[in-house]
Amino acid sequence: MREKLFEVKDLCKSFSRPGKKAVRAVDGVSFDIYQGETLGIVGESGCGKTTCGRTVIGLYAKTSGLVRYRGADIHTMGKKDYFAYTKKVQTVFQDPYTSLDPRMKVSDLVAEGIDIHHLASSRRERLERVYELLELVGLQPEHAERYIHEFSGGQRQRICIARALAVDPEFLLCDEAISALDVSIQAQIVNLLMKLQRQKHLTYMFIAHDLTMVRYLSDRVAVMYLGKIVELGETDALYQGPLHPYTQILIAAVPIADPAAEAERQKMLPKGEARADEVPANGCRFYARCPYACPHCAGEPPQLREAAPGHWVACHRTEEIGGMRA
Ligand SMILES: Nc1ncnc2c1ncn2[C@@H]1O[C@H](COP(=O)(O)OP(=O)(O)O)[C@@H](O)[C@H]1O
Ligand code: SF4
Ligand SMILES: [Mg+2]
Repeated sequence: MREKLFEVKDLCKSFSRPGKKAVRAVDGVSFDIYQGETLGIVGESGCGKTTCGRTVIGLYAKTSGLVRYRGADIHTMGKKDYFAYTKKVQTVFQDPYTSLDPRMKVSDLVAEGIDIHHLASSRRERLERVYELLELVGLQPEHAERYIHEFSGGQRQRICIARALAVDPEFLLCDEAISALDVSIQAQIVNLLMKLQRQKHLTYMFIAHDLTMVRYLSDRVAVMYLGKIVELGETDALYQGPLHPYTQILIAAVPIADPAAEAERQKMLPKGEARADEVPANGCRFYARCPYACPHCAGEPPQLREAAPGHWVACHRTEEIGGMRA
């Protein structure tokens, strides 16, 4: 039996807006994250991926629901336990340009967690640890004395990873961690993350709007649409046999190199975009964009259910759609 690192139950996170209805950015999601796995989270921009990740790890206060880390409720745990928890759970975000202080040397950026959690007993030990971390992510000791503006995007992301690993965490939330990088650099960072995962037995939640890298990296993938998980399954099962119309569209939306096939694909794509502030009161949230929508879909929200072992989908018409596509 795989050990659960995170247990997420019916988690909701709303943002209030002056004079308007609150945005239900995450609206009742439930899933587990198992030790050692990579759980990918995909969906268009605005679907609630970032809010979900941040609320799961406790960076955002939840509106309702439950998150347990190794059995303990992270939103109610005491100060001391929460401090210990912050050492176990680290983040790598999209934009190292804005998240890193330009006036700090790389050595101080990388060592920040070491200082906060008192993990080095002398300056020498601290510096040695920084050198080890830089080497781990493919940088050199001399980089420790430099400033962030002297580095390329890929190198900056390596620095962010070193910084996250400085406290010897168990879990990394990677939120669009490679999205700002060139494709060739993306592959290098993904390979680095995979190497580190094997070496250090890390668990990842890997959020991205780009499906290709998520497929390469993830053991399981959850698809979000307007605050809900609409499909969740093993990566191969989900990419080879997507059950939810939204997942089918997302996968069809990955561009194809052949121009003729690409033109054909463009014709298939539905119009419209995800709008979290236009969530229908009843029924399926994908109703307005779904090629298979029927009157029943407008009246009743579909629940996430296990359509095949380990493969969950929230759609009223999964079986019929499977028949239509066969
Ligand atoms: N801090 C915030 N305040 C108000 N609304 C927010 C905030 N963060 C996100 N939202 C809204 O919540 C929805 C989901 O956003 P987000 O979680 O960033 O989605 P994604 O990461 O999938 O692009 C969007 O409609 C967004 O405008
Ligand atoms: S429940 Fe209906 S509208 Fe929603 S995805 Fe399924 S077929 Fe489409
Ligand atoms: Mg986001």
